Amino acid sequence: MGATIAVLKERRDGETRVAATPDSVKKLIAMGFSVTVETGAGLAASYPDADYLAAGASLAPDGKAALSTADVVFAVRGPEPEAIAAIKPGAIVAALLNPYVEKASLEALAAAGASLIAMEFIPRISRAQAMDALSSQANLAGYRAVIEAAEAYGRALPMMMTAAGTVAAAKVFVMGVGVAGLQAIATARRLGAVVTATDVRPATKEQVESLGAKFLAVEDEEFKNAQTAGGYAKEMSPEYQAKQAALLSTHLAKQDIVITTALIPGRPAPKLVSAEQVASMKPGSVIVDLAVEQGGNVVGAVLGEVAVTANGVKILGIANLPARIAADASNLYARNLVNLSALFLDKEKALAPDWDDEILKGALVAKGGAIVHPGLKGA
Ligand code: NAI
Repeated sequence: MGATIAVLKERRDGETRVAATPDSVKKLIAMGFSVTVETGAGLAASYPDADYLAAGASLAPDGKAALSTADVVFAVRGPEPEAIAAIKPGAIVAALLNPYVEKASLEALAAAGASLIAMEFIPRISRAQAMDALSSQANLAGYRAVIEAAEAYGRALPMMMTAAGTVAAAKVFVMGVGVAGLQAIATARRLGAVVTATDVRPATKEQVESLGAKFLAVEDEEFKNAQTAGGYAKEMSPEYQAKQAALLSTHLAKQDIVITTALIPGRPAPKLVSAEQVASMKPGSVIVDLAVEQGGNVVGAVLGEVAVTANGVKILGIANLPARIAADASNLYARNLVNLSALFLDKEKALAPDWDDEILKGALVAKGGAIVHPGLKGA
């Protein structure tokens, strides 16, 4: 008998994604796992129970029943306190645990004795690319941010020449060109906008230009060293930030849509757009702050709300953008988990994770009742 994977129904407000799809269940079963899906887990992402059954999963009436036999637990977000008590000690739990922010729930989960894998901590090495949930979700969030902006914007994005006159192309500015920013650029370009972008990592310049957008940044010595070995941005000095703000002020005033995605792992999001800069923008302009859950890049962005400023600028502080494209987000996340699961098995298909494997080691945050990740201990 292979190991059993439980797939939980998500319980957080607005969380429409699910950690397995009928397609991923088939793959897991082919790998030798048995899969139990909590009833209704995929409904909000358009994956009905019957499709999981047809794929070979069994259904459990509630989370407790799903967890009672599970050696491995898959979830999108960290399981709720009621679920924690039902997790078998020593089970592997893989989810987007938001470990820097949700410390109390992480500790409660750790105390249950499970081996906790934070999907956010999957190392950014090529062997782990197919397991990289931050990337799979950020890509869709970047796409969706442009769709949300286009919807909130009272004008068109492409230039149109009509008998009644010309509609000007929208000017879209993307701040922070990681995975989400690159997809936002590509999406805005496909919709016909004139796109510019900025980042503090020099490697992004060429990426921006290869997507047909224009790059804009303070390219000083600090900029040349802004990328860490892990590929992330460093927190920039106050001097750099002041120069960045001055460079971007005139530019921001001319933009129709601004999409901000700037993050620094384990730190609050950098503030990139001030209240004065928002006030300088035209009425009807739209800002989408993708970093709003990490404190926001834009002064005035409110989590879960559309803030309309005195000068008529809309600031969209949408929480959990991937949940607004739940079927695809679930599909890609579920595949990330399938690829990760291969690391749980030995050659005989028995559950025997090698915790010294670079990927598992990097993503393991708790084991045997204690927090084990060096970045979280004592935090
Ligand atoms: P992220 O979500 O941590 O941050 C988004 C962007 O904000 C980054 O490009 C960052 O440089 C930028 N940023 C931070 N502070 C800023 C500031 N003050 N002003 C402007 N921009 C600022 O980044 P994400 O999307 O996770 O990507 C980070 C890197 O990891 C990228 O180089 C990406 O290509 C790389 N990556 C590598 C993978 C692999 O090798 N397996 C997989 C996925 C991403």
